[in-house]
Parts: sequence; structure tokens; C-alpha cells
Amino acid sequence: MSLLRTVIRSTIPQGSKALSTGAIRTEFTQVSLPALKWDFGELEPFISGRINELHYTKHHQTYVNGFNKAVEQQAEALAKGDISKVLALQQNVKFHGGGYKNHCLFWDNLSPTKNGGGELPASSSGLYKKVIDEYGSFDNLIKDTNAKLAGVQGSGWAFIVKNKENGAVEVVQRYNQDTVSGNLVPLLALDAWEHAYYLQYQNRKADYFKAIWNVINWAEASKRFDQA
Ligand SMILES: [Fe+2]
Repeated sequence: MSLLRTVIRSTIPQGSKALSTGAIRTEFTQVSLPALKWDFGELEPFISGRINELHYTKHHQTYVNGFNKAVEQQAEALAKGDISKVLALQQNVKFHGGGYKNHCLFWDNLSPTKNGGGELPASSSGLYKKVIDEYGSFDNLIKDTNAKLAGVQGSGWAFIVKNKENGAVEVVQRYNQDTVSGNLVPLLALDAWEHAYYLQYQNRKADYFKAIWNVINWAEASKRFDQA
């Protein structure tokens, strides 16, 4: 009997548990919802508590469940040598894994105003200096980012990233739950799916994109910039 041991290391370990799936002895560590650093209602009036509650407990949870299931199924298929099934499951791994990861970034790069949400990073920070050098002002960077968000046709994300190749701060757009990787290190992940705003803003997507900057955790973005 072939023995396969697949370990998926979660960046968010709380609540994680190892599974063993029958005779195949496939083992992996499940991902789980990350702990939030604020209460659902603390981003009001910019993002309603009800939106955060649904977004976190329903939408993000669905990606957590979908990723765990897809990885488990893929590991089982691999252990059986069913390569066609392994390949067929790739899309689910990508979609749900991206959804899991993007939302983890999203929650951490939001913060209530009472905890510093919306405050630009310190002028002595590497991120602040880089943004001023490249864009002239944070307003210009935000304008570029909002244009990328507005350009998402359907569902997707905009990311402010650090390009490790040249150290530049860039704005990129992704569809569905595609994420950024490789040389592009996410500093801010901004959710442009309707589920992120529709309950409060309906079709006024641009208003949501304007409002969200009031609860952006630039300190977190600055930390990600320094660590990249
Ligand atoms: Fe979302």
C-alpha cells in the first residue's frame, strides 16, 4: 500500500487539526478561520457589522471548508494514482485556497479607526517613503487603487503589492479568488466582490471603495512591506 503524507501548513494555526483518511493514511493540517482583531461592528459606519459577520462566518468559512475538502480529495486521488482526478481538483484548490488566503490578508489589513484605522504609516517608515517617492502622495496611490477596483468586472480583488524584484510599490488587479504570489508580496488586499459591500452600498460600489480607506490598517501594510 502506498503511503502518502501530505502536510499543508496553515499560516493560521488556531483550531487546526490533523486528519487521517481511512486506509490511505492521508494526513494534512486543515486551515481554519483566523481570529479577528476587532469586533464585527467596529468598522462602522464604513463597513457594517452585518456585512462583516456574514463575510467572515459564511463566505470566508466556505473557502476554508472548500479548500480543506479539495486538498483532502486531491491527496486521496494522488495516493490512488488517479492523476486525472488530481488535475480536475486543481481549480477547486486554487479557488478556495485563494479565497482563504485573500480573506486572511483582508481582515488583518482592516482596523477600527479607534485603533489607528485610516492613519497613514509613519513618515519614517520604508513604505511611507517609497509611496511618496513613487506616487507623490498616498492620495495618488489610493486613486490608482480605486481605479483598479472599479475596473474589476464581476468579482475580484485589487492588491497593493511590493515587487521584490525592484522594491516598487505596485497596484494589481485579480479576478475571482486569484491571488498574488512570487515576486509580488501583498501589502493590502481589497475585496471587490459584491458580498463585501452590497448589503450596505448596493450598486454604489465606488462609495464602498472610497469608504474603506477610513479603516485601512496601514501599520499592517508597513509591516508587510518591511518583511517582504
Ligand atoms: Fe470576500
